[in-house]
Amino acid sequence: MSTTAIIPTTLPTGPVVEARNLRQVYEIRRGFMRKSDHLQAVGGVSFSVHAGKTLAVVGESGCGKSTLARMVSLIETPTGGELTITGIDAVNGAQEERKGLRKAVQLVFQNPYGSLNPRKKIGAILEAPLEINTSLNAEERAAKARAMLAMVGLRPEHYDRYPHMFSGGQRQRIAIARALMLNPTVVVADEPVSALDVSIQAQVLNLLADLQQSMGLAYLFISHDLGVVRHIAHDVLVMYLGHAVEQGEKNALFNRPLHPYTQALLASTPGLAGSTGVRQRIVLKGELPSPLNPPTGCVFSTRCPHVTDRCRAERPQLREVADRQVACHYAENFLTA
Ligand SMILES: Nc1ncnc2c1ncn2[C@@H]1O[C@H](COP(=O)(O)OP(=O)(O)OP(=O)(O)O)[C@@H](O)[C@H]1O
Ligand SMILES: [Mg+2]
Repeated sequence: MSTTAIIPTTLPTGPVVEARNLRQVYEIRRGFMRKSDHLQAVGGVSFSVHAGKTLAVVGESGCGKSTLARMVSLIETPTGGELTITGIDAVNGAQEERKGLRKAVQLVFQNPYGSLNPRKKIGAILEAPLEINTSLNAEERAAKARAMLAMVGLRPEHYDRYPHMFSGGQRQRIAIARALMLNPTVVVADEPVSALDVSIQAQVLNLLADLQQSMGLAYLFISHDLGVVRHIAHDVLVMYLGHAVEQGEKNALFNRPLHPYTQALLASTPGLAGSTGVRQRIVLKGELPSPLNPPTGCVFSTRCPHVTDRCRAERPQLREVADRQVACHYAENFLTA
């Protein structure tokens, strides 16, 4: 790719996000004269996301989902690994190119109220990114903001209202509208519907799917809820304690999960395989180990119902099994289960 093109004008055929062995290690300071600890929040994760497709990242609290989101949305620099966005090296590329990427990648958070300035009208909120990043005049900016309001299912009169005058679902629509004002290539959405009522969740998920289709957006979609993931994802990356334990095409994983952790997640999600019928956050038996002191062998070995001595001693590498990648010594055993 030419080094002068900051953002391609046509949809790329290859992946728009490519992460190779992405790592994030935080230093935890223990105080004066005391040795600091290192917490590996993400321990070498690889994936790609294509234009018009959604990669969902799922796993329990603390497994590193938001850390991954912060790296891909360029808020945090990875400790290691490679990250390429629209063909540009997002870690070591030229400063000017990386600056251009900040427009190409936009974030949507769980709580839109926290990120919408309560003293600004919706029109001004939507126009702010245009003011900073484009040479459009006031009239053109207003026209774009109004068009975007319509695209996300809000009404023209909403332009002059303040964030507190909206419901949670409408506020998330505003946050999505703001994220799209600069025509991004990639949208990183970190639990974008987790704070919403279940009935509203479906509406916002449908909106995200429609916008993806019409704008060719690539989504990195973070969620702890497999019901939501099944609704929106094309591909799924299951994380446990900073590691990818299983990843592949959504239906392959949902129809025949090959990692015991994915199996446990599915079993604890209502409406999915082995469901208990009770809507709940993912609950597994046994304590989640501390990321400061992870198990030596397989990261899931302390909670796995199929654990053997080999699992406790030897960490399984992520490898091709059937139609996806799995990090389990015994994945083949589940092929016929
Ligand atoms: N800035 C930081 N400094 C130190 N540790 C951090 C920092 N940010 C995250 N962590 C730790 O890294 C791990 C992963 O955190 P992260 O927020 O990515 O998890 P998550 O999967 O998004 O969880 P949740 O579902 O609760 O949002 C956790 O153990 C967390 O405590
Ligand atoms: Mg998080």
